[in-house]
Amino acid sequence: MSKPTPREIERVRHLREEIRRHNHLYYVLDNPEISDAEYDRLFDELKAFEEKYPELVTPDSPTQRVGAEPLEKFRTLRHTVPMLSLNKCTTEAEFRDFHRRVKDLLKVPETDIHYTVEPKFDGLAVEVRYEKGAYSLGATRGDGTVGEDVTHNLKTVKSIPLKLMGNPVPDTIEVRGEIIMSKEDFAALNRDRVERGEPLFANPRNAAAGSVRQLDPRITASRPLGMFAYGIGRMDSPQPATQWETLEALKKLGFRVSPHIRLCRSAEEVHAFYHEILEIRDSLPYEIDGIVIKVDAFDFQRSLGELSRSPRWAVAWKFPPQQEHTVVKDILVSVGRTGALTPVALLEPVRVGGVEVSRATLHNEDEVHKKDVRVGDTVVIQRAGDVIPEVVKVIHSKRRGDPPPFTMPETCPVCGSKVERLPGEAIHRCTGIACPAQVKEHLAHFVSKGAMDMEGLGYKFLEQMVDRGIIRDPADLYFLTREDLMKMDRMGDKLAENLLAAVENSRNPTLTSLIYALGIRNVGRHLAGVLAHHFHSIENLARQSKEDLEQVHEIGPTIALSVTNFFNNPKNITFIEKLKRGGVAFPVEEAESRDASLAGKTFVLTGVLQGYTREEARRLIEKLGGRVTGSVSRKTDYVVAGRDPGSKLDQAQRLGITILDEAAFRDMTGG
Ligand code: IVH
Repeated sequence: MSKPTPREIERVRHLREEIRRHNHLYYVLDNPEISDAEYDRLFDELKAFEEKYPELVTPDSPTQRVGAEPLEKFRTLRHTVPMLSLNKCTTEAEFRDFHRRVKDLLKVPETDIHYTVEPKFDGLAVEVRYEKGAYSLGATRGDGTVGEDVTHNLKTVKSIPLKLMGNPVPDTIEVRGEIIMSKEDFAALNRDRVERGEPLFANPRNAAAGSVRQLDPRITASRPLGMFAYGIGRMDSPQPATQWETLEALKKLGFRVSPHIRLCRSAEEVHAFYHEILEIRDSLPYEIDGIVIKVDAFDFQRSLGELSRSPRWAVAWKFPPQQEHTVVKDILVSVGRTGALTPVALLEPVRVGGVEVSRATLHNEDEVHKKDVRVGDTVVIQRAGDVIPEVVKVIHSKRRGDPPPFTMPETCPVCGSKVERLPGEAIHRCTGIACPAQVKEHLAHFVSKGAMDMEGLGYKFLEQMVDRGIIRDPADLYFLTREDLMKMDRMGDKLAENLLAAVENSRNPTLTSLIYALGIRNVGRHLAGVLAHHFHSIENLARQSKEDLEQVHEIGPTIALSVTNFFNNPKNITFIEKLKRGGVAFPVEEAESRDASLAGKTFVLTGVLQGYTREEARRLIEKLGGRVTGSVSRKTDYVVAGRDPGSKLDQAQRLGITILDEAAFRDMTGG
């Protein structure tokens, strides 16, 4: 095998530098200097060198990057400096042992040993790299040696700066920190997931980790994540001399650093700080599970070194777990806003971490069976996220007698409708569209754009109408009178008139909008269109068997089952009848008129069209069997570009997607 010449090595270095600069210009500044073809030439030249001399490949080479759109799988990344783990202690005596070892190994006066003490964040450890001040890479810790490339995902975390503050900034710096989700955001996310029947996250740490480890960065972007920086991996300019200065430097670079840190000058100060933090633990908006104690001076850290992947210069002093034992008095089932049935253990009240707990969630039927929780059992409960306590496990040795196993009710405890559990889902749901537990959510969906499209009826407003007993289900909207509306807060003549007009204007929906508005589980706007085009009327759709439905392209067994379940529920039929009585026209679409020339094609719209509003263009595409999505990916077939197109056009060009101007779009859709 040949060896690279110094000139070649220099050329490789230069190529990398150039490509990085252009990546930065393109991705961070959105201001490219060269064409894609020129970029590709540089890239190919570098790749050729690296193939010829594999020893020249570095993990930070631009050739090791991955694309920006949803990935098939994560690329692995070798950390430049391994990410170590921490030895743990749980008692003061164990911490004293640690301190004694440090003292004995360093052989310096005890007063010279200072510790920087920080919270131990309970999240996901990551590393973010900056090249010349620009965010260039993000990775999970993984096993400490090799992690996953989550560059594009971490880029969406708002507390991670995309460009470092200050001048000059280090040439290369790798910042380490913990991705966390606040307790409140975690609770909200899980509430949302229960309602959607998605599997729950056990705690904020899992939620944060699950959000980062998403192949689609857009999902990560939709999750409320933050990062606390706590260290530096590699850094190419003079490093701070201590951990304390490191945290100061990280703040100056624009990172979020915990305010609950302290420079402790003795073991006693560490001990006192441990209790201070334990005291405020519950009041912090995010979870911590201890403190991390780090020898402050890096000189000392170096001479202490590491042992089997853990430094001798640091220790995690863990807090006691937030778990307690208690007895299950009963198991109830509560119904959420979208009809999800959640088993809840009613407990003998017990204090956990300073809070009295009398209920704990059991999440869903499978969880109850997996943990085999029965009435009368002694269980371990824990406060996950300090918000929803949960049952961790049963102490089987304490079970008395043979209580019957839990079973999910077959009918909704609130409205009596049939309960369904669709294949592949963990959640049981009430199928009643008029179920009082779900009515607000149904209403919000029913009036939304794409459904019945009643402008001005916001969630707060609908909520008030339900709470005051003015409406009980979405069909009641069509029976509203001026007098009803005048019972609401801050209602005036003009507003009442507008709202009544919005209701009036919604009485002639398209069949697609009407099907979508019914809120059949798993039937979004696109599938509503597919069903409308196939079955032409609600009456005909309601008659179809599961097998008939499955014959339709894009309709699988799960969707077919939700459709048949929906129409087999007499309460839903009553609801449909009530809509008719309320004056909603049930449209019939002509079978013959169906032109499916765009079936299976995906469109993205950008810029302003002269002859169509966005909504009109979307309807037209949908009518012809196509679908419209919000962002460009490899799955996009056409990008329709009007005047002043946005970055979607650039993206389309880069991915080689067919671009239609307005005239071409008109031709394609038959004018
Ligand atoms: S320092 C050798 N500081 O704890 C230094 N780690 O077991 C190791 N962690 O995976 C990291 N808060 O996710 C450090 N303030 C903090 C931390 C912290 C949480 C986590 C980190 C790491 C694990 C080490």
